[in-house]
Amino acid sequence: METLTIVGCQFGDEGKGKIIDFLSNDFDLSIRFNGGENAGHTVVADHQIIKYHLVPAGFLRARTSVIANGVVINLKTLVEELKFLSVMRNKFDLKISNLAHVVTDLHVKRDRFQEELRGSRNIGTTLKGIGPAYESKFGRYGIRMMDLEDPYLLTEKMDFLAKMYHLEYDHSEIDQLLKRYADVNEYVTDTVGYLQNELNDGKSALFETAQGTFIDVEFGTYPFVTSSHTVSAGVTVGTGLSPRYFSKFLGVAKAYTTRVGEGYFPTELTGEQAESLRKLGNEFGSTTGRPRRVGFLDLPMLRMAVKLNSLDYIALTKTDVLGKCKDIRIATSYEKDGNEINTYDPNLKVDKVNYVQFEPWSENKKNLEKFIQFIEDDLKVPVTLLGNGEKREEMEVRGEMQLV
Ligand code: IMP
Repeated sequence: METLTIVGCQFGDEGKGKIIDFLSNDFDLSIRFNGGENAGHTVVADHQIIKYHLVPAGFLRARTSVIANGVVINLKTLVEELKFLSVMRNKFDLKISNLAHVVTDLHVKRDRFQEELRGSRNIGTTLKGIGPAYESKFGRYGIRMMDLEDPYLLTEKMDFLAKMYHLEYDHSEIDQLLKRYADVNEYVTDTVGYLQNELNDGKSALFETAQGTFIDVEFGTYPFVTSSHTVSAGVTVGTGLSPRYFSKFLGVAKAYTTRVGEGYFPTELTGEQAESLRKLGNEFGSTTGRPRRVGFLDLPMLRMAVKLNSLDYIALTKTDVLGKCKDIRIATSYEKDGNEINTYDPNLKVDKVNYVQFEPWSENKKNLEKFIQFIEDDLKVPVTLLGNGEKREEMEVRGEMQLV
């Protein structure tokens, strides 16, 4: 059984889409298991920019794509995304979990309301209704894909949701939900049983997390986090597969750090230097278009990501972008009350960050090797893939990955 689980090592937007697209050619199944349309996995292939929001980023190349039970689905987005993707691949095999929860307009309104209520302490959510959809799931009043088989049950649930939120809703939303559900109904199935059978049958599977380790609801910079589990452990409940099925884990890290939304970011840059890196790396959110905050690569953060996710391999992305900068640094430790700290703690504000300086590599590739070697020596995890451009072909394979 060959499985590989891809996670983000930072705050999301590490470039996972490109890595998943690249690897998915070698897998039978491509599976997404958390988050919703807050995610935006960008892939540049066949002269097209493809932005995946709900469909796994291996859709174009893997034999079958699966949207597993841990994902929250906005049907409008899903229908539009499939319309776009089916032009690029007209014969495809897709499975959508009947247990996945649905994001409605009421959830979106609730997200906006909560952000307004938080005022200056707002999280900076994507305003896609993701938090409220997970709230209703765990509050046991959520709407599952399977509930859309029954218009009476759906109406009852929508009425309950509206009462919970003290909101009115237009009953035409029910018809819209049913219509959109009818568009995807043929793909909706018991993905848990499907995945068990496929994997027991020896098929290979590539699992992808949306977002990054440090916006995990439990282990991130709470409350400035998303509402799902973005660490590798999330893959089990997010798919219904027991831990026994998962063997290898690959973490994707950008050669520098970025973050959208609010929250703690020790190596953050400001002013002109930040502006220039943001422009060089085109660091604007692929879901909301917001400018991303940018900063240096943070090794204490990666050390923690290696531990939390049991990483076997690392893919380093956007090395071409960083190589053009004059000031290249890696954070190696922090200082707090005169003590040196080597691991990232999302709940601790540090006084100072210690850095090591590197030479640019746009003219001298050896400097990039030194940068990578430094990371590998510290983390004791091999950098097996190197992203050095936005296109599918702009990828360097540096080492073999064993998947069993
Ligand atoms: P939410 O997931 O929309 O509730 O947003 C919560 C936090 O997670 C905000 O800071 C978002 O900017 C961030 N976030 C959500 N999805 C992504 C993503 O795919 N990449 C990066 N940040 C994200």
